[in-house]
Amino acid sequence: MSQTDMFGEPAQQASPAQASPTQQAAELRTQLHHHAHQYYVLDAPQIPDAEYDRLFQALQALEEAHPELRTDDSPTQRVLGKVLDGFSPVRHAVPMLSIRTETDTEATGAQAFDARVRRELGLTEDQPPVEYAAELKFDGLAINLRYEAGVLVQAATRGDGEQGEDVTQNIRTIGQIPLKLQCAEAPPAVLEVRGEVYMRRDDFEALNERQREHGDKTFVNPRNAAAGAVRQLDPAIAAKRPLSFFAYGLGEVQGWAVPPTHSGLLDALGEMGLPVCAERTVAQGASGPQGLVVFHQVIGQRRDQLPFDIDGVVYKVNSRELQERLGFVTREPRWAVAHKYPAQEQLTQVEGIDIQVGRTGKLTPVARLKPVFVGGVTVTNATLHNLFELRRKRARVGDTVIVRRAGDVIPEVVGVVGEARASYVPNFRMPANCPVCGSTVVREPREVNHRCTGGLFCAAQRKQALLHFAQRRAMDIEGLGDKLVDQLVDSALVRTLPDLYKLGLLKLAALDRMADKSAQNIVDALDKSKTTTLPRFLFGLGIRHVGEATAKDLARHFGQMGRKDDEQKTGIMNATVDQLLAVRDVGPVVAQSIHTFFAQPHNCEVVEQLRAAGVTWPEHEPSAEADAASLPLAGKTLVLTGTLPTLSRDEAKAMIEEAGGKVTGSVSKKTHYVIAGEEAGSKLEKAQSLGVPVLDESGLLALLAQNASGAVESANPDQL
Ligand code: IVH
Repeated sequence: MSQTDMFGEPAQQASPAQASPTQQAAELRTQLHHHAHQYYVLDAPQIPDAEYDRLFQALQALEEAHPELRTDDSPTQRVLGKVLDGFSPVRHAVPMLSIRTETDTEATGAQAFDARVRRELGLTEDQPPVEYAAELKFDGLAINLRYEAGVLVQAATRGDGEQGEDVTQNIRTIGQIPLKLQCAEAPPAVLEVRGEVYMRRDDFEALNERQREHGDKTFVNPRNAAAGAVRQLDPAIAAKRPLSFFAYGLGEVQGWAVPPTHSGLLDALGEMGLPVCAERTVAQGASGPQGLVVFHQVIGQRRDQLPFDIDGVVYKVNSRELQERLGFVTREPRWAVAHKYPAQEQLTQVEGIDIQVGRTGKLTPVARLKPVFVGGVTVTNATLHNLFELRRKRARVGDTVIVRRAGDVIPEVVGVVGEARASYVPNFRMPANCPVCGSTVVREPREVNHRCTGGLFCAAQRKQALLHFAQRRAMDIEGLGDKLVDQLVDSALVRTLPDLYKLGLLKLAALDRMADKSAQNIVDALDKSKTTTLPRFLFGLGIRHVGEATAKDLARHFGQMGRKDDEQKTGIMNATVDQLLAVRDVGPVVAQSIHTFFAQPHNCEVVEQLRAAGVTWPEHEPSAEADAASLPLAGKTLVLTGTLPTLSRDEAKAMIEEAGGKVTGSVSKKTHYVIAGEEAGSKLEKAQSLGVPVLDESGLLALLAQNASGAVESANPDQL
């Protein structure tokens, strides 16, 4: 462990250089006890995990150098966590262990593990490689599910490893966890399945968004939200928290022939209806540890795109027989190791608080930070969401804060560390006027957000509106990024969306740092974007509350944009609030927002000007909701896997959705088709094992074409 903290300064507060080893150990223990209580018992951590690990490792190192300092109550000597008063204790039939963590570089980490395993098995160099299973290290909390005769009878947390808490009621609310195992033959007398309860990032974002809207406390990270939900005393509240689960191992087993390998075990659990993560591999044969190195690298690159947080990967000796031969040291199996990735939470300091003005005029306080490396990138800004969040978190200039960056989500300040402030720092106030355009700032009653009232007069809102319109999922104008939009708006070349299409080569090429070639590319991209679809166009307009999904629903329902001067009053532009309410998933707030948008003549003018500039999309007759059922893929669920030869994943998804189908991420018995391309992995295997029809790209196209003529049900999809 490095001797410096994350600011590159000596880690003073943890182990003052001048203190004696005894004092240092005592101080570290006090801090660790405090933070463990905050984390495990109160679900309110004050420092990031990486910081906790650092303190823990510092104490471990100290105790290793001075074994006489080791005390029975040292956090290093027992696994943490206390039984809360509200839950009954559960003694684990088989202790729940932890895994040794490797922090080495990716190559040496896997090799060191392999070398250790071989040494302990007494294997010499000329003997064959050991086979390993590699999987993800999910960032949630460990749960033991006890099935007796195939029925879920108890769910318990890990607690201290020997004794946990009975959280059966809450775990039962997790839809992913089967209450009854699917077994072809008689179910095992006892089967304890171990795995991780976690919260997906999108579920976490949505939950926090809801909490924020209601002015409730937000959760620090998905793991914390999951832990809070599992230990929520009121199962009704727990049920509203969207939890997920992955199985990764076993506890007590009676009356079941456990498969001889770990990978086989996970397959078998999957077949019993337990969620098992598809992102796993077996490194076998000559590739041995090299396969693990590649897995670590590949997952590291894809970490941001996963729908949930992981903090590393886990390597396990695949053969259960070898696992048994290897056994355990203290509380860790010798046959498994966790290999971590850089932490997604770090400490840094707030250097200032700026205000950013968004597309809808929302003023977002953003912390300007001392640069910090977190989640694989250097972060210099992090959102504080709104004034109330900022106040609740008590973030002020000069504070040390926890910054979180996970996935593609914008970095955020999740909390402040410590209470002491060096000197008086004034409380942050929202400005009365927009910092960009000077218009009045308002906060509507019962709203948490402050907004600039400048509308498209405000350059910040204009810029964001243009970026929203140009983004890949809307008009997809390649090359129109924030730098160019800044230039275009600041030089007054572009004020409104239609102005984009009046740009031309000359004006573009005259811009600073714009090569002729790039200017031509932008002109081409603008031209190309003119041929679009109604959902993309609608989404691109940036109507409040109209996201991609709503835009698709609206387009499907109305079929046409309509024209204000149309006597028939058809299309979305002319829809009344009641007509809008008839659209699937459109509620009063959304309906009102769409209606208000098109009641503004200047918004309709924008639509007309865009049409005049040549923007077109296919339209169809309005289709009542009943018609949705007659769409070619209505009610069908498809899964995409691997790389298709010509269609991108987004394109394939769009085509399927256009045809009324739904695209999901995992294969189950309910999946109608799996569309498999090059390098399709476990989803393909799963489809085959479940007998779900598998199609290639041309099969998909044929399905869409055939289906359109209503002939699909009789066709054998495998032969398409
Ligand atoms: S196996 C005997 N596999 O990491 C080994 N654990 O320090 C028992 N975890 O508390 C654990 N993903 O909650 C295993 N794929 C995975 C895991 C995993 C996450 C967690 C688990 C446990 C901790 C071990």
